[in-house]
Amino acid sequence: MWRQKGKSAEGSFSSYDVPDVSEHMSFLEMLDVLNQRLIEKGDDPVSFDHDCREGICGMCGFMINGQAHGPLKGTTVCQLHMRHYKDGDELWLEPWRAAAFPILKDLMVDRSAFDRIIAAGGYISTPSGSAPDGNAIPVPKDKSDRAMDAAACIGCGACVASCPNASASLFTSAKVTHLNLLPQGEPEQERRTLAMVMQMRAEMFGHCTNVGECEAVCPKQISLENIAKMNRDYVQAVFKYREPSAASGSG
Ligand code: SF4
Ligand code: FES
Repeated sequence: MWRQKGKSAEGSFSSYDVPDVSEHMSFLEMLDVLNQRLIEKGDDPVSFDHDCREGICGMCGFMINGQAHGPLKGTTVCQLHMRHYKDGDELWLEPWRAAAFPILKDLMVDRSAFDRIIAAGGYISTPSGSAPDGNAIPVPKDKSDRAMDAAACIGCGACVASCPNASASLFTSAKVTHLNLLPQGEPEQERRTLAMVMQMRAEMFGHCTNVGECEAVCPKQISLENIAKMNRDYVQAVFKYREPSAASGSG
């Protein structure tokens, strides 16, 4: 288990025995048990992010034996259960490792770089008046399906942590695509794509080189096709705004 007291402190691995773990416990409940024991002994409990514990909010996430969110596909650590491990298994827990995600403490990292990418353009600013009828704006089925699939991204950061370049292209492309595909998001799509890609570049993320590890570990099965679409939207936006210096690809 990676223990690190703070952002600028030096970290190291510590080992703990956690006996009496029920197979029905989630991984985070197992950590709760460990923390209870540490607190009873007067030791510092292990810090880890969590909120919903239902695979929805995107707060949880760390490496288990080198795999983001652990060994199961399509699962966050809060939805991983201890029945997938055997008695006596040795587990190595580490925080996401990426320059853009500095470690705050133990297994917690600072993912505010994602927030800044969203703040750059992950919204619709068109004045919309009162709430329209749900069927007032027709959306083609294939576009609404692709937009909904992209909107499933929970911002956990596993894609960045697993990418050898620590690229945020899968996350950014999901956020760009889910708005760009919908009629409500179309009027601002060029401005949005440029702003979000520029912000992604301004953070400490690496470039996408199509390794595909991000898609493989994503708990929400966000597709690499979103990156291809973001790249197309980016080139289109660059040519529209005639910024040739920016025309070297988005990832
Ligand atoms: S693309 Fe997948 S792995 Fe990346 S932040 Fe979104 S949900 Fe997490
Ligand atoms: S705690 Fe919300 S997704 Fe895991």
